Amino acid sequence: MIQIENLTKNFIVGEDTLTAVKEVNLKIEKGEIFGIIGLSGAGKSTLIRCVNRLEEPSSGKIVIDGIDITGLGKEDLRKQRKEIGMIFQHFNLLSQKTVYENIAFPLQLERQSSEQIENRVNELLSYVELTDKKYAYPSQLSGGQKQRVAIARAIANKPKLLLSDEGTSALDPKTTKSILSLLNKIRKELGLTIVMITHQMEVVKEICDRVAIMENGRIIEVNTVENLFKSPQTKTAKNFVNAIPENIDDEFINPDDFQGKIIRLSYLGNSAKKPIISEVMKNFDININILSGNINKLQATNVGYLMLEFIGEDDEINRALSYLKNENVHVEVI
Ligand SMILES: Nc1ncnc2c1ncn2[C@@H]1O[C@H](COP(=O)(O)OP(=O)(O)OP(=O)(O)O)[C@@H](O)[C@H]1O
Ligand SMILES: [Mg+2]
Repeated sequence: MIQIENLTKNFIVGEDTLTAVKEVNLKIEKGEIFGIIGLSGAGKSTLIRCVNRLEEPSSGKIVIDGIDITGLGKEDLRKQRKEIGMIFQHFNLLSQKTVYENIAFPLQLERQSSEQIENRVNELLSYVELTDKKYAYPSQLSGGQKQRVAIARAIANKPKLLLSDEGTSALDPKTTKSILSLLNKIRKELGLTIVMITHQMEVVKEICDRVAIMENGRIIEVNTVENLFKSPQTKTAKNFVNAIPENIDDEFINPDDFQGKIIRLSYLGNSAKKPIISEVMKNFDININILSGNINKLQATNVGYLMLEFIGEDDEINRALSYLKNENVHVEVI
């Protein structure tokens, strides 16, 4: 289905060249749900954006169903892009347009008749279970509902490939599950191939058939999900496997039950060596309540996660979250 050969993407930044993707080789089969996992800055988004040429590769080849995407001219590329849907972490909906209009948009670009468009949008609304939100605006929807609209829009033109760049990262665990089961349904019923970028091992475990681990622009491991958990080949893969919560109940903390903000921190490296939580309490005017966690020592580093309640002013909490992000802790607000 997708064959990536020796793909490299360089960015010129001032006088420097930054290689975001380095000599990547990858084969993804038809009907597969293929995960790409890696730390921030590993090159995941750049790689996936090369697949539909939102980024122009510097060298190498991407072949989809026998068609060399890298060699296509403008008009042929436009046709091929119709075969590729994409969803994002922040949904990218048109805020001034209704749910109906958002989903109709790609169909209008294809100059379909209004009757065809109406039929197709209604069909999609029912498929993603949002018929009752047809005339709502994105601001009136929950995160999960917004992502359902984005998914309906992404599959409106019946693509054969769906790319998801952190499509569940902005959602709470329960909503994540419902979006994952929608994606699974799409794969099963519509036969799509899905490539999912994520930093959440839970997502990989729940839905992916195989996974590639990316680090510093390179793919350092490709494994079936089963074997990844049984015998991860690289240290980075081991870190990811260990960062998954053992007790799934921890994942279902209901933010409504708490007065503060629920924050999930994932540690995947040196950051856990520092007394980060006490630094946050010292430097910011917030109180922290530890709800649950699982930190494992792995050789010289710590890996794992912590669920915390942050109590304080919004501004102060946001400053603390920025601080944590700077310390390379992965931060999610639940
Ligand atoms: N347009 C750009 N210009 C210059 N550098 C870029 C550009 N886009 C990405 N990069 C750099 O390329 C590297 C890979 O970035 P990329 O966004 O692909 O990482 P990622 O794995 O998706 O990270 P995250 O998990 O944070 O989304 C980073 O060092 C980033 O700063
Ligand atoms: Mg990214």
